[in-house]
This record gives sequence, structure tokens and C-alpha cells, in this order.
Amino acid sequence: RAEPLVLGIETSCDETGIGIVRGRTLLSNTIASSMDEHARYGGVVPEVAARAHLEALQPSIEAALAESGVTLADLDAVAVTSGPGLAGALMVGVGAAKALSVSLEKPLYAVNHLVGHIAADILDADAPPLEYPTVALLVSGGHTSLLLVRDLTTDVELLGETMDDAAGEAFDKVARLLGLPYPGGPEIDRAAASGDPKAIAFPRGLSRASDMAKHRYDFSFSGLKTAVARWVEQREAQGETVPVADVAASFREAVVDVLVTKALAACRDHGVPRLLLGGGVIANRRLRDVAIERAAAEGVTVRIPPLSLCTDNGAMIAALTSELIMSGRAPSTLEFGADSTLPV
Ligand code: KG4
Ligand code: ZN
Repeated sequence: RAEPLVLGIETSCDETGIGIVRGRTLLSNTIASSMDEHARYGGVVPEVAARAHLEALQPSIEAALAESGVTLADLDAVAVTSGPGLAGALMVGVGAAKALSVSLEKPLYAVNHLVGHIAADILDADAPPLEYPTVALLVSGGHTSLLLVRDLTTDVELLGETMDDAAGEAFDKVARLLGLPYPGGPEIDRAAASGDPKAIAFPRGLSRASDMAKHRYDFSFSGLKTAVARWVEQREAQGETVPVADVAASFREAVVDVLVTKALAACRDHGVPRLLLGGGVIANRRLRDVAIERAAAEGVTVRIPPLSLCTDNGAMIAALTSELIMSGRAPSTLEFGADSTLPV
């Protein structure tokens, strides 16, 4: 089967991502982020994100075509994230994809954002092919999900996800209460460098034996955020200066510990010696280091795609669609819409 040329559109959160792939080869990956516009609110504002997508789509598509040296007429298919994500933001991408598909008379594929994150791995030309089954941990500002991937195109099972805040969201909220700017992940990382991760014993959400029975693969970060807020408030009430570096390091350690512990539990339970990481929080060096170290001790190999493919992007959506086409999947019909809670 010939390698399909696919254009992928990703607008589920604050990144307008346009990617073009041929088969498993990345041709372009254009990302326009509205992050700066959300900074003063301390988090992504759905209305602002949707409007930004509307403005960024057309120039982003043109830039991606120019970069890859292909024309719209060359495309074999158009792909779009239909969920999960912010409803208004998703709708902009879905509308654009339908318009392109109809006007160009090209098949259209609606795909799942989380499965797209897994497909990003395929575009890593330096890595050996992805082996199955693999456990995948996806951590970003919008999601924290643990998945069992038996086959990318036919068999992806959601094992668990966050019950409240996403891991990146927790970083952003804790940064805010420490007086650090948005996005908080890189700021906490920087502050934590000179701190003691053992200084404060912050709670590990859903990790007690009783929780592990019912929510073995689920996450919760809102209790941790509240614990940090209370700890900081108490110091301030006593007129003490807050040891920002120690708080940041201890908070980061709590998040990393829970993420890695649960991901490795999933590997052990399912007899899977492979763990794939994805999502923007993977930029966290401590998370990568702890995951690699603890996985090695259990005989688990960790795969981490390049960061430009880990954060939200259109190339992963195009890559997943390319795999679907090569496996014989029929295109979507035009009835689908944006689905903010689309299951895998
Ligand atoms: O995947 P991503 O770029 O976008 C969406 O979530 O849509 O992830 C962004 C999230 C933000 O919450 C940001 O604070 C977090 O990833 N992040 C980090 C780091 N860099 C970015 N979190 C922890 N440590 C980092 N170094
Ligand atoms: Zn994402």
C-alpha cells in the first residue's frame, strides 16, 4: 500500500497545530500557541483559545504546506482531532477540516487526541519501531491518562485518568500560589533546582491501599494543590518567609512519584515491559529521570519522543490517520462533531 500524504489539524486546547506526514515520515509540524494570551488568567480560557484558533488556522495551514513543499491538491486525506478537549476550540478545527475535505473532495478522518499522542512516537525517525503491547502515560495541562496500547489502530484501552486537575494544571496552579508566572511547569522546575525534595511530605493522591483497590490507575492532584496552599498560608500567617525552592521541589517530587508509581504498576499488572511517555509535562527533567531510573530497576524500557512531538501538535494527528489508512480504515462520514469527552 502506498504511503498516504495526510494533513492533520489539532485544536483541542491552546495550540493550533498543523502537521503534514507521508506514511511515517514527518514533513512539517507547525504550531501556533495562544499561551501568552492566557498568561494573565493563570490558565487556558476556552473562549480566548477558540478565537485564537480561528485566526491562526489559515496562516498555519499555508506555512505547513510551504514547509513541506506540497499542495492541497496532493493530499490523500485530511485529519482532525474531534475530542477530547475544549468544546469551542475543537469545533474550530472540526469546521475547518470539514470545509477542506468537502472543497478538496478528499477523505476526512476524525481521530482521538489521546491516541494521537501515542502516534507521535511513530514519527521519531531515530527510534526503533514501537512494540506492542505498551503502557502509555500522557501528561499535559489538559490530561493525565494511563493507557494500555495493544495496537495503535485497533486496541487502545484507557486504564485510568485524573479525577480532577491534570498534572500540568497542578503545576500551573501551585506556581500561581507561589507567585510564579504562567505556565507554571518550567517555573516550578527552575525553583525546585535548589530545593530539597524531601523537605515537606506532601500527599500522594489516590495512593493509599484503599484507593489503590478502587482507583489503581487514576490520579488526583487537587488535594495536593490544597495541601501546598495550606502549608504556604500557615507559614505566611506566622510571618515566616516561604521557602519557595523547598516547596517547589517537594511538590514536584509528589507529582512525579505518583505518576511513575502508577505507570509502573500498570506495566507490572499487565506484564508489559514497555512504557511510552507523552504530553507537555514530559519536559520535566525530574519526571523523565525518575521514570527511567525506576523503570530500569523493574526491567521496563521507557520511550520518550522528542519534546516537539510530545506537546500538542497536528503531526501526531496526521501520523495516526496515516496508520489508520494503511490499515484499511474507512474515512469518517461528515456527521461527526466536536466531542469534548470523546472516549479512546
Ligand atoms: O502538552 P502541553 O504543551 O499543552 C497542553 O496541555 O495543552 O502542556 C502544557 C503543560 C502546562 O501545564 C505546563 O505548565 C506543563 O505542561 N509543563 C511542565 C513543564 N513544562 C511544561 N510541567 C512540569 N515541568 C515542566 N518542565
Ligand atoms: Zn494533549
